[in-house]
Amino acid sequence: AEQTSEKLVELAKRRGYFFQSSGAYGGVGGFYSFGPQGAALKGNVEDAWRDRFAVQEGNMEIDAPTIMPEPVFEASGHLDGFDDMLVECPDCGESHRADHVVEDNTDYEDAESLPIPEVEEVIAEHELVCPSCGAGLAGQAVEAFNLMFETNIGPGDSDPGYLRPETAQGIFVEFPRLKEYARNQLPFGVTQIGRAYRNEISPRRSIIRTREFTQAELEYFVDPEEDEPDLESVEDVEVTLYPASEQNSEDGGELEITIGEAVDEGIIANEWVAYYLGVAKPWYGAVGVDMDRFRFRQHLSGERAHYAADCWDAESEIDGNWIELAGFAYRSDYDLSKHDEYSDDRFTIFKQYDEPKTVERATVDPDMSYLGPEFGGAAGDVVDELETLAERDRSAFEGDVVEIELEDESETHEIPVEKTGFSVDEETIAGEHIVPHVVEPSFGVDRLVYTVLHHAYREDEVDGEERTYLELEPEVAPTFVGVFPLQNDDDLEAVADDIVDDLRDAGLSVTYDDSGNIGRRYRRQDEVGTPFCVTVDYETIENEETTVTVRERDTTDQKRLPVEDLAETLAAIREG
Ligand code: GAP
Repeated sequence: AEQTSEKLVELAKRRGYFFQSSGAYGGVGGFYSFGPQGAALKGNVEDAWRDRFAVQEGNMEIDAPTIMPEPVFEASGHLDGFDDMLVECPDCGESHRADHVVEDNTDYEDAESLPIPEVEEVIAEHELVCPSCGAGLAGQAVEAFNLMFETNIGPGDSDPGYLRPETAQGIFVEFPRLKEYARNQLPFGVTQIGRAYRNEISPRRSIIRTREFTQAELEYFVDPEEDEPDLESVEDVEVTLYPASEQNSEDGGELEITIGEAVDEGIIANEWVAYYLGVAKPWYGAVGVDMDRFRFRQHLSGERAHYAADCWDAESEIDGNWIELAGFAYRSDYDLSKHDEYSDDRFTIFKQYDEPKTVERATVDPDMSYLGPEFGGAAGDVVDELETLAERDRSAFEGDVVEIELEDESETHEIPVEKTGFSVDEETIAGEHIVPHVVEPSFGVDRLVYTVLHHAYREDEVDGEERTYLELEPEVAPTFVGVFPLQNDDDLEAVADDIVDDLRDAGLSVTYDDSGNIGRRYRRQDEVGTPFCVTVDYETIENEETTVTVRERDTTDQKRLPVEDLAETLAAIREG
């Protein structure tokens, strides 16, 4: 049978949801345009996300450039580590993701975590073939392929830049400025909704894996020793979890559990991650993801990104396959430490103690004159080494001599302790610089739009005729109400025009349609997913413009409503 996805992609093109871009030039894999309905639906989903994850959580939103200079990605690890495994077909020349070829044709479930030589071995051993033309892939070299799109900033090629592969880096690099807006107080969160780019080897399934897509990300900066999430507010949220341990066990399966229980039982180890899973689940339900086809799956250890200490994905089921909608990662201090190390700026927060603390500080005498001529030019290095040793291991100074070995020398130096000027002094300090830890809910918007449409897709029969409609939630439906004059008649049209104005004034998105018979117009709006249609008929005029027919999309029930209440009634439904 035709899968819903195929029918949906067809409907999406016909009704202006999404379609392959640059179609006039044959289209190019992995790039899609959202049409008028799709752009509005995506905008509504983004607004709902902004409301929940920025406004209601009290986080700040930023909008950073999509092109960033090379040093950013040297520091972030993307230049070295953001690779997929590529294998090229010797026959047709098509490139494929080697881990997908392995996973699709063997029992391996986590081929991404295998080292390249092992993937080559598996390909040879199982005599795997090119998914496009069937030619054997055994003996083909598997390469690490970096997914970032590279460009040059300005003329020439001396300043390479990259299109950001995640919106997150745009937040991390601005941390030194953002912490000032947060008045140097942890915890605080920064969100960004924007484009990300990945030169995917094999883009798949329409807008599910593309080369340019939209992410909605929150980077929440915490003091790992002090800050705790408000777990109580989400502890009763029921979730379907698929932990790594269950995925690794032969008879493993999903668990139905509350967030509170999952934390108590150690299934979700990180409380921040648990908190955001608890916030995300009802939000996904509210925008229209079918909660019977939704789960959180923990990453297997080899699957985690180079920065992630623990990660769970939100997944939705589409035609029998689970697709990743979002990742909830505990990134620890990875990113900020890296930027702190690679840049000239400070990616730390000064943590003031409640009361000043007195600490012991071990030092050596930095005046190196006493070391004598035998150390020559190495005297500075000797002092550095002694200072490090004093900080780390005071016991080294307990005997008569201190032994040190300089990095570039094989010789050990023995320095009489009294010559080092070693002493332990007391010092009062007000606080310390700490590198905040990051917890990151990272949402893909395009995949979510796809899921929302897929889970809303319905077919039924009305008056003996087959009907297709999208049961979209009123909160996100791109067109909220269709207004039709029953026939082409000046009087009906004048009333319909006024109603359109009223509804638009009430903030509703309205479409006006006077072409074709009324049944056709209803069907068109059903396919778009418009929750209500208002028809102005002769009774409206006879009644001195007091009532209109309001048809409800899902039931096709029709009611007469007073014109004067229409805007208020519909706006209240839209608000939920
Ligand atoms: N900052 C973390 C991060 O980027 P990710 O799991 O690589 O994490 C987050 O991406 C989300 O972005 C994914 O869950 C997915 O929804 C979306 N995404 C990633 N690659 C995508 C692609 N090629 N096409 C569409 N969406 C994608």
